[in-house]
Amino acid sequence: MCGIVGIVGTRPVAPLIVDALKRLEYRGYDSAGVATLENGALDRRRAEGKLVNLQERLEAEPLSGQIGIGHTRWATHGAPVEINAHPHFSSNVAVVHNGIIENFRELRGELQADGFVFSSQTDTEVIAHLVEKGLRDGLEPVEAAHAAIKRLRGAFALAVMFGADDNLIVAARNGPPLAVGHGEGEMYLGSDAVALAPFTNRITYLEDGDWAIVKRDSMQIFSLDGSAIERIQQRSVGSALMVDKGNHRHFMIKEIYEQPEVIGHTLAHYVDFNEQKVALRQESTVDFAKLDRLNITACGTAYLAGLVGKYWFERHARLPVDIDIASEFRYREMPMSADGMSLFISQSGETADTLAGLKYCEAQGQHLAAIVNVQESTIARSCKSVFPTLAGPEIGVASTKAFTCQLSVLAALAVAAGVQRGHIDSERERELVEQLSEAPRYTNDVLKLEGEIATMAHGLANKPNVIYLGRDTNFPLALEGALKLKELSYIHAEGYAAGELKHGPIALIDEEMPIVTIAPHDNIFEKTVSNMQEVAARGGKIILITDERGAEEAGMDDIKTIVMPKMPEIITPIVYALPIQMLAYHTAVQMGTDVDQPRNLAKSVTVE
Ligand code: M6R
Repeated sequence: MCGIVGIVGTRPVAPLIVDALKRLEYRGYDSAGVATLENGALDRRRAEGKLVNLQERLEAEPLSGQIGIGHTRWATHGAPVEINAHPHFSSNVAVVHNGIIENFRELRGELQADGFVFSSQTDTEVIAHLVEKGLRDGLEPVEAAHAAIKRLRGAFALAVMFGADDNLIVAARNGPPLAVGHGEGEMYLGSDAVALAPFTNRITYLEDGDWAIVKRDSMQIFSLDGSAIERIQQRSVGSALMVDKGNHRHFMIKEIYEQPEVIGHTLAHYVDFNEQKVALRQESTVDFAKLDRLNITACGTAYLAGLVGKYWFERHARLPVDIDIASEFRYREMPMSADGMSLFISQSGETADTLAGLKYCEAQGQHLAAIVNVQESTIARSCKSVFPTLAGPEIGVASTKAFTCQLSVLAALAVAAGVQRGHIDSERERELVEQLSEAPRYTNDVLKLEGEIATMAHGLANKPNVIYLGRDTNFPLALEGALKLKELSYIHAEGYAAGELKHGPIALIDEEMPIVTIAPHDNIFEKTVSNMQEVAARGGKIILITDERGAEEAGMDDIKTIVMPKMPEIITPIVYALPIQMLAYHTAVQMGTDVDQPRNLAKSVTVE
């Protein structure tokens, strides 16, 4: 993952680079570093851990210089320690890199044979030495950088700075995103436009295979073979304002509380509540009637939203859905239907595995569509039909409001598909639209359960294992509950389809095992209760999330119950997401983990 920044400026750049890195810290926070150039000398400051450590280092030992590069790291090759922090140097060359250089072993061997000494365990350091080797062989800086880029295999967004030239950064992209910002007499580079928002909103995105010469007053883009390329300059809508936590202790709980509003906004984008009809906008229109198959690809929480979507598309629109985890999909060489549509779901729009799946589907001639939160992202820019989630910036690494907005879009699309395919008549459409319109109100009501849920979290905190159960659309929610708990509290948790428990996992149940069961009172409630009883008979400690009728009919003593309002079936996954988010949040708070930036994670996963 990692975030990179570069500035060819007219004022001291180190503080500006740190400001931009703050906006990129969601991409990784294992270490950070800045390098600048002054009077022909490269200098750098690096620090292990979060950006705040680098800021302290810079306060103690400031860096001057009007050209510089910076990096915030999510470790791939080499431990998250200072020697592996970027920028990496080789004599007169400094490099920052996001991605993975797949042939770094081969290159390192070759460079070591030429006498280069490596001071880190990273793959990135080979880039610095390769460029330096070119300089020693008599190449000009730009030629040396171009020659080095041509040797790299893998995924990279990188910036190279040279001791010999204080008006030059060479940038390159193959995979992870890279934006060039155009200022007044200054030029900028960043992993996204938001990082550059305080400096400029005039942005040119590099495409895969592009490399660029960036100077104070010009920028030229080339393809790998050296021919010049034109890329359009666009106005970014990224805000320069840093999103803050308001009165909340963490971004995550703030984002949980934003859900009634952002779900409402998102639904209103797809549904005409006055006319009580689904109303897809022109730019996102898809002819669902012509589709014979829908293929959904995503990762993590976005994948679990897609799994709920599968139930909805099949149930309401009789549209068969294949759904894959992107990292598996891309290698399974799935034959695809000529009349199929491929739908990618992503908050960031930059997830490398999802993007790789997209490229596969593009090559198969599929209609490409995306449900995406970041509208200027690579996934959004690569798809013909884009369905935005209007969640606003999601800062907490654990996805919350993006998930419920993805569900909101999927629900609206499933209804639209049902109408277009003739499985939903206008009366049923009105009914479903009215039900969807209730989602903001119910989510708001459920927020009032926070105190009670915080108390229940005592039953999970410090437990070694937790199991989540659900059936139907609550099965993906069980998986999501387990994922949220794992990533926030580091407790081992698994989600199971309630009916699957008896086929093996029930062997795990003993008096120590908490079981969170998600079971609104619906047509399969009794089945889930039977599964819960099997657990109770073996001493498992049950937390049941249900409605009033479910609580009454569960008929079990010695269980804890979170009582939800009674609501229509189509919005239950959206609304029931909140108690599982709050349960994971409060468990993590009680255990004292870093809720917004859990260990080993990053918000945007731009490596395979
Ligand atoms: O940006 P994306 O939605 O593509 O990200 C996908 C996953 O990396 C993401 O949902 C991840 O699983 C979250 N940390 C879950 O909370």
